[in-house]
Amino acid sequence: MTIRKFQTKANFLIKRFFNTSKMANSKFEYVREFENEDKIMPNCWVVVRIDGKGFHKFSKLHNFDKPNDVRALELMNYAAIDVMNEFRDIVISFGQSDEYSFVFHKGALLYNRRHSKILTYVNSLFSSSYVFNWSQFFPSEKLQYPPSFDARIILYPSDENLKDYLSWRQADVHINNLYNTTFWNLILKGGLTNNEAEKRLSGTLSSDKNEILFSEFGINYNNESPMFRKGTILLRKKVKNPNNNGRYNCVIYPFFEDLIQNKFWKTHTEIFDYKSAVPTYDPTEKLPDIVEQQLRELDRKSQKT
Ligand code: GTP
Ligand code: MG
Repeated sequence: MTIRKFQTKANFLIKRFFNTSKMANSKFEYVREFENEDKIMPNCWVVVRIDGKGFHKFSKLHNFDKPNDVRALELMNYAAIDVMNEFRDIVISFGQSDEYSFVFHKGALLYNRRHSKILTYVNSLFSSSYVFNWSQFFPSEKLQYPPSFDARIILYPSDENLKDYLSWRQADVHINNLYNTTFWNLILKGGLTNNEAEKRLSGTLSSDKNEILFSEFGINYNNESPMFRKGTILLRKKVKNPNNNGRYNCVIYPFFEDLIQNKFWKTHTEIFDYKSAVPTYDPTEKLPDIVEQQLRELDRKSQKT
């Protein structure tokens, strides 16, 4: 075959290939029509809440401390920080037990506000970060199986609705934690069986549980760790980096404050005024480990570049 003939034959085959694939596209493309348009309503707060699947069993199998395991809660916080670092439109997150809520501001336009993209990216990043960082928080506890999380999106049209949502989640922490703290003290220190402890607490009010803790176990509930009593609130703040000549760096900062009170919203005005710059924060207490870790990571990155 001459070179010219070969070229003609090759051109013919290439054209046929592209024509066929074009035809195949046009023939099958109609299936795209079955995909739903899933754009989230504009101008609403977007809450993504994830929750561990079967963590009752998971926590038992991995010997979580009762009623609260600091390692488990800090791992949840760490995974949530990964999510907030990836999705800059999140203005506040709230975590407790095996759940986390991420709040995207009303004006967020990521992925054209496509419901499925936002939901699945947040959920899969949280889950993979939880597994990726497991050994850092549980060095002596082998992960027995891959944990998973369910996730949902809830839209809130008003600032008041959003405040009430977060207050609802924090009130849930209070109810559960007071119950669990009393329940496990009755069992672990009081020698009751699970059934006996359950019966003892049936129909009791908060004040009764406080009284049991104080009079029988010498525990003042208000002195329990604020992370256990209030859950963890994550906010973006600029803090002084002691390793970087005191320059301010932007980090995700954990707070264990009462967000049901108005004082919280008056202090952290950037949540609703989300177009404002990240505010500086000069804590009186030592920087939390999780913040120091972020600052070290920033230093490491800036030294590399
Ligand atoms: P689904 O979410 O419906 O799949 O059920 P679940 O088993 O995950 O229960 P749920 O989400 O209602 O509650 C979380 C459960 O995780 C709690 O009831 C505890 O059993 C367990 N859990 C979460 N955090 C801790 C912890 O710090 N210590 C211990 N011991 N258990 C925890
Ligand atoms: Mg769960």
